[in-house]
Amino acid sequence: MNVGVIGPGDIGEVIVRKLRDADYSVKMANSRGPESLRGLAAKTGAMPVSVEQAVQDVDILFIVVPQKAIPKLPKGLLNKAKKETIVIDVGNYYPFRDGRIDEIENGLTESVWVERQLGRPVVKVFNTIIAKALAEAGRPAGSTDRVALPISGDDPKAKESVAQVIDRIGFDSVDAGTIADSWRQQPGSPVYCTNPTKEELKLWLKNVDRSSLATGREKVLKSYLAVVDADYQTQVNAHRSVLVEEYGNKE
Ligand SMILES: NC(=O)c1ccc[n+]([C@@H]2O[C@H](COP(=O)([O-])OP(=O)(O)OC[C@H]3O[C@@H](n4cnc5c(N)ncnc54)[C@H](OP(=O)(O)O)[C@@H]3O)[C@@H](O)[C@H]2O)c1
Repeated sequence: MNVGVIGPGDIGEVIVRKLRDADYSVKMANSRGPESLRGLAAKTGAMPVSVEQAVQDVDILFIVVPQKAIPKLPKGLLNKAKKETIVIDVGNYYPFRDGRIDEIENGLTESVWVERQLGRPVVKVFNTIIAKALAEAGRPAGSTDRVALPISGDDPKAKESVAQVIDRIGFDSVDAGTIADSWRQQPGSPVYCTNPTKEELKLWLKNVDRSSLATGREKVLKSYLAVVDADYQTQVNAHRSVLVEEYGNKE
């Protein structure tokens, strides 16, 4: 399977490493050009290319840029991708970083906004796991502490293909519904950066209260900033103590 990654930054680099460890063929691109990715290429065997080249002839394309950078991608970029290419949106909206996006503030689901910007359907996944956890928390299938990721999107076959990739890199997954419903996995949700098992993920997805998302996001951001240099378990615990304790565990 051929994969493209646009934005091998904090989490995008981990995605590149995990995919290469699992023997996927990976092309990667950023805004500074292929030269800037030589070091990562040497370490991983992923191929540095231009943004335009990254979208061509791939089965899966990961978009891993901050939300504010989505409209800055070249116009019509996705027209260069095959019709069958699965486009994954890993992003999250943070007003402090991305500036205010009125449509999202007025209630549009974040990934629906991304779809409209890109002119292509997306699958939303990997937005709920901290980069360090993605790097270190993978476990063999069947492990009792295996972390599960929610996958949202409108194409069941695309979600199934993505679930297989996730399994291969050490994680479980749960179908979280359509892209319009993907607000359930946005920042502030109890499934956000809390490393749930599959059973926890199913329960917490049911319990998400849309009206609490923005408050939860701002609250957890404060506690996260205090542990930004800590190990991933400490970071996950900081998210759990705000998001799960307040919003997640109702039966
Ligand atoms: N960090 C995490 O733990 C984590 C976890 C889950 C989801 N997320 C979400 O994933 C997204 C990326 O987060 P991050 O923390 O990885 O950010 P980051 O470290 O700032 O990396 C951003 C990447 O996007 C690239 N980029 C920015 N603008 C671009 C453009 N116009 N064209 C092409 N590439 C561009 C950057 O390349 P240049 O440096 O060359 O511009 C860099 O490779 C965010 O929406 C974030 O909320 C992050």
